[in-house]
Amino acid sequence: MQLFDVYSRWDVAPVRARGCRVWDADGVEYLDLYGGHAVISVGHSHPYYISALKEQLDKIGFYSNAVRNPLQEALARRIGVVSGYGDYSLFLDNSGAESNENAAKLASFHTGKDRMIAFRRSFHGRTSGAVALTDNPAIVSPFNANHKVTFCELGDAAGVEQELAKGDVAGVIVEGIQGCGGIHVPAIGFMQALEALCRQYGAVLILDEVQSGYGRTGKFFAHQWAGVRPGIITMGKGIANGFPCGGILIAPEFQARTGMLGTTFGGNYLACAAALAVLDIIEQEGLMANALAVGDHIRASLPKTARIKEVRGKGLMLGIEFHEEVAPLRQALLYKKHIFTGVAGKNMIRLLAPLCLTREEADRFLEAFNEVLQP
Ligand SMILES: Cc1ncc(COP(=O)(O)O)c(C=O)c1O
Repeated sequence: MQLFDVYSRWDVAPVRARGCRVWDADGVEYLDLYGGHAVISVGHSHPYYISALKEQLDKIGFYSNAVRNPLQEALARRIGVVSGYGDYSLFLDNSGAESNENAAKLASFHTGKDRMIAFRRSFHGRTSGAVALTDNPAIVSPFNANHKVTFCELGDAAGVEQELAKGDVAGVIVEGIQGCGGIHVPAIGFMQALEALCRQYGAVLILDEVQSGYGRTGKFFAHQWAGVRPGIITMGKGIANGFPCGGILIAPEFQARTGMLGTTFGGNYLACAAALAVLDIIEQEGLMANALAVGDHIRASLPKTARIKEVRGKGLMLGIEFHEEVAPLRQALLYKKHIFTGVAGKNMIRLLAPLCLTREEADRFLEAFNEVLQP
């Protein structure tokens, strides 16, 4: 049997990793400024994280959500403290898409309404409901196109209000910073307008922090730069540093009902142990502050060339937009300089490094980047 060929893969097969470095079977070292697509938050194979997982596996790895799970309760308390959302509730699931599905479902249960507003260039995942909220026709099958989603322009509060005024909108979903759609940071005033409009029209503001959250921008969630408080916040990716885990934070006014949401694997002991270890490391190593400082350093030190159109993002969620296609530059970075980078569209290099990226590692990237930009 062969693999179903849905990925465009690099010709690299990592077998070992540590911090922001990855090695193949021949011992070739790569610098990881992609973080496995924003998943590796505290660094690859962190010794503290490894022992937390091993210790947990020795005790109990899995039981269903039919029993009380003290690790879930501990994780809820910890996320509450570090995020400032201690009065919210936590529901744990397995991925970003599942978190967004659950958020949309909950918003619909809560309001009794059935339409959602999402934004142009959004990405919320690939499962049925999440992909319906995603503005990319290439990945939306006829089955997924449910016609219950209206796409507005990011930044167009008047357009959002026009839709909300129709009275049938359950929720408005927006990324803390648009990731796959090309690193677009919503303006602070726009986020504040969304919060006010959702309150005015009785819709739920859902913040997708799957990629932009968990300390990546220097605050726990990117939307906290705008000072807004959404009804639901969705999480995934960096929450457990590669162990599959997702979750949603739910505002106090939401009523829970048995069976409203559920999952077999979500919140299992290993995922919770991994997520608790991630929070310990983020706090002990000051990784949120590091993400902001090293991200700012990269931004300030990028080569000044007319080939770069714009640099967008915050902390270690950066998009370098070129006037030209970036595939040759990324190939050179990967195969000549041994540096992993991400992409968003044809013209943007996207950097989603682990939050522990050091200034020296950033400088290694900057030097290599300068070299591959030479004609
Ligand atoms: C903003 C955002 N939401 C949701 C998802 C989907 O997450 P997952 O792939 O874990 O389902 C992603 C993945 O890239 C994302 O960037």
